[in-house]
Amino acid sequence: MAFTDLLILFFALLFLRFWWRYWSVTGGGPKNLPPGPPGWPIVGNLGQVILQRRHFVFTVRDHLRAKYGPIFTMQMGQRTLVIVTSSDLIHEALVQRGPAFASRPEDSPIRLLFSVGKCAINSAEYGPLWRTLRRNFVTELINPARVKQCSWVRKWALENHMKRLRREASEKGFVEVMSNCRLTICSVLICLCFGAKISEDEIKKIESVLKEVMLITLPKLPDFFPVLTPLFRKQLRQAKALRNKQLECLIPLVRNRKAFVESGGNGGPEMASPVGAAYIDSLFGLDAPGRGKLGEEELVTLCSEAINAGTDTSATTLEWALLHLVLDQEIQEKLYKEIVEHVGKDGLVTESDVEKMSYLGAVVKETFRRHPPGHFLLSHAVTEETKLGGYTIPENASVEFYTSWVAEDPALWDDPGKFRPERFLVGDGVDVDVTGTRAMRMLPFGAGRRICPALTLGTLHVLLSLARMVHAFKWLPVPGAPPSPAETFAFTVVMKDPLKAVILPRV
Ligand code: HEM
Repeated sequence: MAFTDLLILFFALLFLRFWWRYWSVTGGGPKNLPPGPPGWPIVGNLGQVILQRRHFVFTVRDHLRAKYGPIFTMQMGQRTLVIVTSSDLIHEALVQRGPAFASRPEDSPIRLLFSVGKCAINSAEYGPLWRTLRRNFVTELINPARVKQCSWVRKWALENHMKRLRREASEKGFVEVMSNCRLTICSVLICLCFGAKISEDEIKKIESVLKEVMLITLPKLPDFFPVLTPLFRKQLRQAKALRNKQLECLIPLVRNRKAFVESGGNGGPEMASPVGAAYIDSLFGLDAPGRGKLGEEELVTLCSEAINAGTDTSATTLEWALLHLVLDQEIQEKLYKEIVEHVGKDGLVTESDVEKMSYLGAVVKETFRRHPPGHFLLSHAVTEETKLGGYTIPENASVEFYTSWVAEDPALWDDPGKFRPERFLVGDGVDVDVTGTRAMRMLPFGAGRRICPALTLGTLHVLLSLARMVHAFKWLPVPGAPPSPAETFAFTVVMKDPLKAVILPRV
């Protein structure tokens, strides 16, 4: 090789080295982003995350948080993610400076398809549309008078639930917890949204379509490389087909309800809620800023949002709670005893009973602490460029709050890995504020402006279902197949091997 060739090679390698170093730095620099793990040119940290072959939440939990601390940047293709893990910074962003961090980032074409261009509470940017939709949701679906008026829905759904559990146990010798809880909670939410008692087969169909929607809207490659969107035409076509399936499934419910409302309440046996009591009734006449009166597509989106947001979160919590009761019979007996003290062995547990059961409340809180259904909140965005922890948070970044760490932090909890409901009666959990307003020690519902608007309803569904199941049955592991607490990600963080349990009738 000639000397000039060697020289060219030397300079090419030198250039490559500087080029690599320049492009692999994440954060810092003149932009003053929080520093983060070095990435690769062009793809940033995306390649490393994919190579981990496990969901991003577990990579953050097991490696990145410990290494990069309270706030760090991940460059995922074209998208910049700022990850916030410390309770102080989360409190500052969500509570003290709530409005500044209350928006949502840009959405992928697939998600825009399902939200009809961000016409949903969870995806709307912080502004008049979000405010109107959220206010309507809270006053029409979640206000205490409406929750009381609709308590028959939960009674109906839980009666079916108990019958289904008995049937399954006699057929198979055990029950599958997650699938049964999903179906029941989903049936409650469908009825709250559309005011209709529909058949179990129809509920199953809706539930499976909504699950497919959730999976297809999870982040995929085009989310991180919007420039490549034209290459993903097949995925977009699949998403459109699924959207049509969703519309076909839910538009008949919208139309039936509309006809019922317009006729002043004359409907078939399916229509079970009086006019005004179903969530959709309030949406028919709603004037949404920038949108005007909502069309059928928007109505489907808003009702699906409520059903989706409330189904997996509550069912996941019930599965984890029952896992701990199966594994620790002492806790289960203590809970059963409390329920019997309130309603007797043969009584029916009501919604007002569960509010008075302190040990039940402690079991549910401990489940939310140890197993928050989402380890992150939904992605947030700032309304304009701002600072957090001394770093710049750009307007186009996704701000990800890793809230599950707050409830695991040994500086905030004694023996955080242990499932110990008693801590909420005496000890380190007494007076914990789950809304995080005063102090952040656990945040299963988020905090601040975007906190889950259905916090009380979601908790009620979990309390009531759990109390009914423990009152009716003794829950035991399947002989020879002890349940494993291994986790996996399926929109929420669920048990990798879904819980199966033997149930013995108590009376
Ligand atoms: C155990 C039950 C539940 C848990 C743990 C839970 C948790 C959460 C969390 C963590 C968020 C994100 C907050 C953020 O991004 O800052 C959220 C948002 C939301 N949840 Fe829930 N949720 C539950 C039940 C429900 C139910 C039953 C409904 C509807 C009936 C619901 C409707 C919503 C909506 C509409 C949002 C979006 C709020 C917004 O962006 O302003 N959730 N929830």
